[in-house]
Amino acid sequence: MLNIAVLVSGGGTNLQALIDAQKNGIIKNGSISCVISGRSDAYALERAKQNGITTCVVSRKDFKSAGEFDHALLLALKSANADLVVLAGFLSILGDEVTSAYKNRIINIHPSLIPSFCGAGFYGLRVHEAALSYGVKVTGATVHFVSDVVDGGAIILQKAVEIKDDDTPENLQRRVMEQAEWVILPQAVSFFCEGRLSLENGRVRVLPLNIIIKKEADKDGFQ
Ligand code: GRF
Repeated sequence: MLNIAVLVSGGGTNLQALIDAQKNGIIKNGSISCVISGRSDAYALERAKQNGITTCVVSRKDFKSAGEFDHALLLALKSANADLVVLAGFLSILGDEVTSAYKNRIINIHPSLIPSFCGAGFYGLRVHEAALSYGVKVTGATVHFVSDVVDGGAIILQKAVEIKDDDTPENLQRRVMEQAEWVILPQAVSFFCEGRLSLENGRVRVLPLNIIIKKEADKDGFQ
C-alpha cells in the first residue's frame, strides 16, 4: 500500500475526489496518509480532518527563502513516509530539493489541455479566462508528472471539455472540474499506485492490467 501525500492551497475539491475514490475502491493499493496545505485557511484542511487524515501547514510566507520552504516541505513529506505526492491546487512552486527527492513521484492536475494555457502565471480562473479570450472551442484538464519546467512534465492523462458560447470563466472552471479534473486525477493516482505508469523517453504509457498481473505473477514465481 503506497502512502499518498496531497498538497493543497484552496477549496480541496480535487482532494475530495481522491478521498471519495479511495472510499469507493477506485484507488487501490494507495492511501492518503497526509494533507499538506500552503495556506492555514484552506477549506481543504477541513475536508482532510473530517476524514481523519493527518494535516499540516507549510506556507511559503513563513520562510525567509524558497530554499528553506523547500526543505521544510521535504521534511513534512519524509515524516509522512510519502511514496507519491499529488499537487491538487497547491499554489507554491516546488524547488529542486523536493523535485529531485521525488523524481517521477510527483503528479499535478492542471485545468487546461497542456500545452495550451499553462506555465508560469496560468493558475485558477486565469486559465479559463485565457481559454475564453482566445476563443478555443474545447478545453479540459491534464494530469502530468512534475519536472523542473512549470507544467512541462510528462503527460499522464487528459480529458477534453466543450466550451459553450455563453460560458463565463467561473462556470467553465466548474465544468472542467466536474467533467475532467475529478475524473482523471483519481484515475491517474490509481494507475500510479497499481504500478501501471511506465515512463519511456519522456512519455507516459498506461500499461494494460494483464501486463501488471503477469509481472506480479512472475515476481511470485508463477509462470
Ligand atoms: C483546480 O482547478 C486545479 O486544477 C488547480 O487548482 C484548482 C484546485 O481546486 N491546479 P481545488 O482546491 O481542488 O478545489
